[in-house]
Amino acid sequence: MPETLTERVSLALARVRNARTGADLLTSEMVRDIATTTGGRVRFTLLLDAADEATLVRDAREAVERLDGVTDVRVDVKDPSSYRGTPAFPKGAGASPAAAAQLPSAPPASSRALPVMNATPEPKRVPAPTPVAYPNLGRIIAVSSGKGGVGKSTVAVNLALALANAGARVGIMDADIYGPNLPLMLGVDAAPPVRDEKIVPLEAFGIKIMSLGFLIEKEQPAIWRGPIVMKIITQFLRDVDWGTLDYFIVDMPPGTGDAQLSLVQATNVSGAIIVTTPQQVAIGDALRGVKMFERVAVPVLGIVENMSWFENPETGKPIAMFGSGGGQRLADEVGLPLLGQIPLDPRVQEGGDTGRPIVVAAPELKAAQALTRLAERVRSEITARLG
Ligand SMILES: Nc1ncnc2c1ncn2[C@@H]1O[C@H](COP(=O)(O)OP(=O)(O)O)[C@@H](O)[C@H]1O
Ligand SMILES: [Mg+2]
Repeated sequence: MPETLTERVSLALARVRNARTGADLLTSEMVRDIATTTGGRVRFTLLLDAADEATLVRDAREAVERLDGVTDVRVDVKDPSSYRGTPAFPKGAGASPAAAAQLPSAPPASSRALPVMNATPEPKRVPAPTPVAYPNLGRIIAVSSGKGGVGKSTVAVNLALALANAGARVGIMDADIYGPNLPLMLGVDAAPPVRDEKIVPLEAFGIKIMSLGFLIEKEQPAIWRGPIVMKIITQFLRDVDWGTLDYFIVDMPPGTGDAQLSLVQATNVSGAIIVTTPQQVAIGDALRGVKMFERVAVPVLGIVENMSWFENPETGKPIAMFGSGGGQRLADEVGLPLLGQIPLDPRVQEGGDTGRPIVVAAPELKAAQALTRLAERVRSEITARLG
């Protein structure tokens, strides 16, 4: 059979139906830029309208994953209105296996928008849309970091729980749509019910939770770009039945990309918290994070230094695993308070991996106490700044 992988991928996608329109993904021209490598890697763009189900991304990927010889599938989700790539059925080289085989090093040719991994987002002009106020959400706090793996989600989750422990009504949303952590960290994972056309957030330990992880598969997240990120964030703010909250915590993806801009364009963020580790590299990244929020006029409440030290279990003495004083240096440099220092403790990680966050599971631990103090500090900073 002379069928190429690109052709087989097209055929597989032609069997996936969009329930909203009744048409398949190929006929309805939702699929573009199919690219394959001889090693079985497949990438394609899915043009997802705001009205379409996000689960279509999963359906499309699963259909391709089932094909013989496919080793990896990446879906680049884009908004149809902003898409300026190749037409659905390109003539000539566009979809030929020869061109596709060069995928990893293919230059970003003229109008052809290949889904380039790890591409730096184009600089954008801010502000774009007018932010909408959601007074029912209370104070909106973005937990951000320049770099991944510094403990942003850990801080976001435990901060939310510590605020709730102190009697506040708290919601938390995963804006880290590239790697949603909240389902695992809070031990909840189910399709949220829909009631009166609103999504009902899941609940755990007394806080309300919404994550893209509830709606799509987690193992191989799609690459969400531009307006689609904005739509997901807007839907999470507007179409989720949050009720009345005092604090709304947003777990941001690392860096200064689409999600950060989308959030500040979608609503009025009360304040941002930047998480860093004492290491110099993380500090440099965090500095860029601070600058970004300043540019879009979101007050940065302060810096949180995570994994500050490790307490030697035998001597009780602190060991600086990642250097020391980095958080303070960063805070001094940008003229912001150091809101807290959270020690490194394997039980923090365990709590995160098992859906039992340390603030509720082991409040007596020093790390948990540091997180609880952080929550008090955040509360007082917000009140001091905003009343
Ligand atoms: N203070 C800490 N002590 C021990 N492990 C931690 C601590 N903070 C975070 N971790 C672990 O480090 C990893 C990365 O943390 P995470 O919150 O997912 O980072 P991010 O959201 O910034 O990518 C996770 O496994 C988490 O459990
Ligand atoms: Mg995270």
